Amino acid sequence: MDRELLNFIVCSVCESPLIYKEDVLVCEKCGKTIKIEDGIPVFSEDDFDPETSEKFGFSWSKFPDIYKKEKEDFLNWIYPVKENFFKEKIVLDAGCGNGLHAKMSSEFGAKVVFGIDLSKAVKEAKRNVADRKNVHILQGNIYSLPFLPETFDYVYSIGVIQHLPYREKAIKELYKRVKKGGALSLWVYGYEGTFWVRVLIEPIRKFLRIFSPKIIYVLSFLPAVGFWITNKFFYFLCKISNKLCKIFPLSEYFSYMSNFPFKYQFNTVFDQLVAPRSYFFKKEELEKIFEGLKFKNVVITSRNGMSWRVFANGKDE
Ligand SMILES: C[S@@+](CC[C@H](N)C(=O)[O-])C[C@H]1O[C@@H](n2cnc3c(N)ncnc32)[C@H](O)[C@@H]1O
Repeated sequence: MDRELLNFIVCSVCESPLIYKEDVLVCEKCGKTIKIEDGIPVFSEDDFDPETSEKFGFSWSKFPDIYKKEKEDFLNWIYPVKENFFKEKIVLDAGCGNGLHAKMSSEFGAKVVFGIDLSKAVKEAKRNVADRKNVHILQGNIYSLPFLPETFDYVYSIGVIQHLPYREKAIKELYKRVKKGGALSLWVYGYEGTFWVRVLIEPIRKFLRIFSPKIIYVLSFLPAVGFWITNKFFYFLCKISNKLCKIFPLSEYFSYMSNFPFKYQFNTVFDQLVAPRSYFFKKEELEKIFEGLKFKNVVITSRNGMSWRVFANGKDE
């Protein structure tokens, strides 16, 4: 474990400094011990949301290199943030999955990047960021982040909040870690534009919950092939006639997805089906949550007509 970490992380229970002692971290004040597994400090308790941890952990073990070449896609999730926004910033990727977005943040010029995730995905993440010395991976829980308030210039969380039981609390925990003048980005499922997903896919996802992630993975293959064909169909339809394309719901989304390799599309289907819980945010709900936070600017934009990206900056200014 890189000792530089100790300049940033604190006890997730009492926010006191940690000391390194015989291969574990110990809180100076409350005595909490944090084990270190494969060089990764593990802050999350084993019994916290084991289903989410197991299912997403399995997912990333199957798709460890997804996003490898997808810089434009990363910037699309966090729109309107551009590459140069990262320069010299201290950044947190909350729910970092396979760590490749954290790696890109470092490549974009961030000073230090932390990626934290509840699941064993952190092992893939650690491997993926091995060549970036300023990226640190932790296993932990968004509700009890091991960082002092106002640690980060920029915090982002992509595709995480919608899978949590206490979503507003999680957003407030992220907000708390943003420095004065800093920024927060979220990408979440949208309620608007997802009628068919909620009516057709959600019951299937709920039913599949009884199965192990391995079985859900196998069952996802055929729908993924169907998804791939649909995406290709809409890609060509939208090329031939923009008018015709606009008649169909989700055509913008299908057409966008057709740009990615099959593996990426398979991951999208599997990710949707393996999640133990999913929530679809209405725009006004996000507006209300962010009204209660002190940001100078809040921009909420639609992504492909079916999800929301929030970019809030100028905290407490
Ligand atoms: C859909 S994935 C998104 C991962 C990554 N942000 C990306 O864009 O690829 C959701 C991630 O959130 C993580 N997660 C779920 N609940 C969490 C929690 N309470 N604290 C931290 N991470 C959590 C999961 O383990 C999973 O890796």
